[in-house]
Amino acid sequence: MTTNDPTKLTLAQLGADSPEKVATLFSELHSAFDRDAAQDIAAIDLGITRVKWLGRKSGIVSEITVNWLKPASKEVKPAVGQSLNALKSHIEERIAALAAAQEATAEQSAAARDKIDLSLPGIERAIGTRHLIRQTYDELLRIFSAIGYSVVAGPEIETPYYNFEALNIPEYHPARDNMDTFYMEPPPGALSASQTKIEPRLLRTHTSPMQIRTMEKQKPPVRIIMPGKVYRRDNPDATHAFAFHQIEGLAVDTDLTFCDFAGTIDFFIREFFGPGTKSRFRPSYFPFTEPSVEFDASCIFCGGSGMNSSGGNCSRCKGSGWIELFGAGMVDPAVYGYVKYDAAKLNGFAFGIGIDRLAMLKFGIDDLQVFTQNDVRFLRQFP
Ligand code: PHE
Repeated sequence: MTTNDPTKLTLAQLGADSPEKVATLFSELHSAFDRDAAQDIAAIDLGITRVKWLGRKSGIVSEITVNWLKPASKEVKPAVGQSLNALKSHIEERIAALAAAQEATAEQSAAARDKIDLSLPGIERAIGTRHLIRQTYDELLRIFSAIGYSVVAGPEIETPYYNFEALNIPEYHPARDNMDTFYMEPPPGALSASQTKIEPRLLRTHTSPMQIRTMEKQKPPVRIIMPGKVYRRDNPDATHAFAFHQIEGLAVDTDLTFCDFAGTIDFFIREFFGPGTKSRFRPSYFPFTEPSVEFDASCIFCGGSGMNSSGGNCSRCKGSGWIELFGAGMVDPAVYGYVKYDAAKLNGFAFGIGIDRLAMLKFGIDDLQVFTQNDVRFLRQFP
């Protein structure tokens, strides 16, 4: 077997028969080690370097002790011994120095990591704001709780019974047309053995089903508001969305009149839009209220004059001085029949306010879609 590695051969085989030639061999090893030790302090693996040069079994120093020193001739042996010791201590010192340097760098970077500079400015964390819809809802809540209303919530997935029938909207009634909605099939296997049919589910088109759910559970008197999301099969544009927000109101008692109703709404409109705002109602139609009305507020943009600053028609109310707000009415006695309330003794009123629409009016927003586009440039304007 031949080898090119001089450390595996004897000095005789290498032809090193004089101290000068021995010195040359050692200086080559010296340079080889220095090259090994010259790597970047962070990259050098001292474990590997140490084993390669000082390893007891087949480290280079052990190899040349066996192959060079032991069989060396008398002429060169002292020179070999000396050079070997010199090389060995050079390697040991250098490795120890490198180890110390590595440790120091590690400590330094740890210290740098831990160091807190109190003179630096703190990290500013952006605090989110409440969404405008939520702000508007909170304001409605404040106004109605001030006059004794409490809040209940209910399901967004409803049955046709609560969304329509119990609100006096029978199956083929045309009033269902403008509330066309999303129906859901029962999942396969949902039918139990004793059932032949499952009542379909739909996404509620208004918060009015909560009138029924509340009256089923609660004896009169009732004074509640019921906020939440509602869904309609509408195509999105500046004033339509397939999901929007309503707040339903319901008051039932033995002595409530239309005057209480109008007074309550007038109070709400003045609180919400400002004390100078006037309210009015016009006849309307809802199957679950009788009489039914639409409430308007005097236009908050032109102060009810119907004119803009240059004398033309106010663009918001189209010159009428009034802005349509929401539908409402006295509870239709037929509805009481569905919840086993005594229609002869009780009366009350209900209203369904679009929260998005109120926010748009109050803050002069002309596109309903911005509420759900999550553009921070919009959201930031309402801290
Ligand atoms: N639920 C009706 C709608 O969404 C509004 C309404 C509520 C009307 C309560 C009268 C009474 O259009």
